[in-house]
Amino acid sequence: MSQQSITIRRPDDWHLHLRDGAQMQSVVGHTARQFARAIVMPNLKPPVTTTAAALAYRERILAALPESAHFEPLMTLYLTDDTAPDEIRRAKDSGLVHGVKLYPAGATTNSAAGVTDLKRCWRTLETMQAVGMPLEVHGEVTHAAVDIFDREQVFIDEQLIPLRAAFPALRIVFEHITTSQAVQYVRDCSGACNTLAATLTAHHLLFSRNAIFTGGLRPHFYCLPVLKRENHRRALVEAATSGDPRFFLGTDSAPHARSTKEAECCGAGCYTALHALELYAQAFEDAGRLDRLEGFASEFGADFYGLPRNQGSVTLTRSPWTAPASLPFGDEPLVPLLAGQQINWRLGQV
Ligand code: DOR
Ligand code: ZN
Repeated sequence: MSQQSITIRRPDDWHLHLRDGAQMQSVVGHTARQFARAIVMPNLKPPVTTTAAALAYRERILAALPESAHFEPLMTLYLTDDTAPDEIRRAKDSGLVHGVKLYPAGATTNSAAGVTDLKRCWRTLETMQAVGMPLEVHGEVTHAAVDIFDREQVFIDEQLIPLRAAFPALRIVFEHITTSQAVQYVRDCSGACNTLAATLTAHHLLFSRNAIFTGGLRPHFYCLPVLKRENHRRALVEAATSGDPRFFLGTDSAPHARSTKEAECCGAGCYTALHALELYAQAFEDAGRLDRLEGFASEFGADFYGLPRNQGSVTLTRSPWTAPASLPFGDEPLVPLLAGQQINWRLGQV
């Protein structure tokens, strides 16, 4: 008989979008129910580029939490061409900023203020390396000449390899990897290398690019980096379930109002904060590796970031339920991934 429940140490989400204001208020409880901590992405409008802005954002998140929640937001700064080395020192000294996010300019949602040329950030990156501040990388090149399905692979060759050669001790998280080339690149950093890791989303583990085009165009499966071919999905599942501590959980849950998803020009992002652990459990079960969920979800990320593993545990039960058609999101509806479809696992009490 198949396994009916699984209990794991309380997990963390190492890559999350919470937005701000009433929208954030609508979604933050979902993450707090699932995770003890989350690395909160800084791509607000305007972006979170200073420690002062990150700390103010943190206060707004804490104020928006449901009363019963035990949740710690781990803040990040948004790297720009102008981020000063002093800002990195301030961030480090705060003890509350845990990373700096590199968005190549134009790569994705709210990335217009991102980095136009990494060379412009050299002194800042040097400081990050010196003080031990991790760099979280959206690993896609943006030149129009590169096919959208090849952008991650080209980023490795054009940006990541030279970056790591210049800053061998800089700790880097290659975020939401989507290709077998990225898996291989992380794996090839072998031996004593503890400077490179990668996060994996539930949607990239569960779906290939076919999901975007099943019977028509499906905007709720559109995210960046875009879903890839089935052979890549399999490589991601293999990495996530391998027990290799360089691969860990980061949902990239990215809420967008329904009107901006079901639109002529649809925004990139899948909303999975509602049922993240259930989706990951499905992917691990499909691979016959539920026993490896705990390391991936609750241990390897904390170890990489140098934070203590959480106390306490959560239980997932095999107890099918139907994901809602929509959720409130400020004054608009938000459509979660797999809206209206059956989810096999359930977090918490049945
Ligand atoms: O799908 C995505 N959505 N990818 C990103 O890189 C950004 C995110 C968002 O903020 O909506
Ligand atoms: Zn993201």
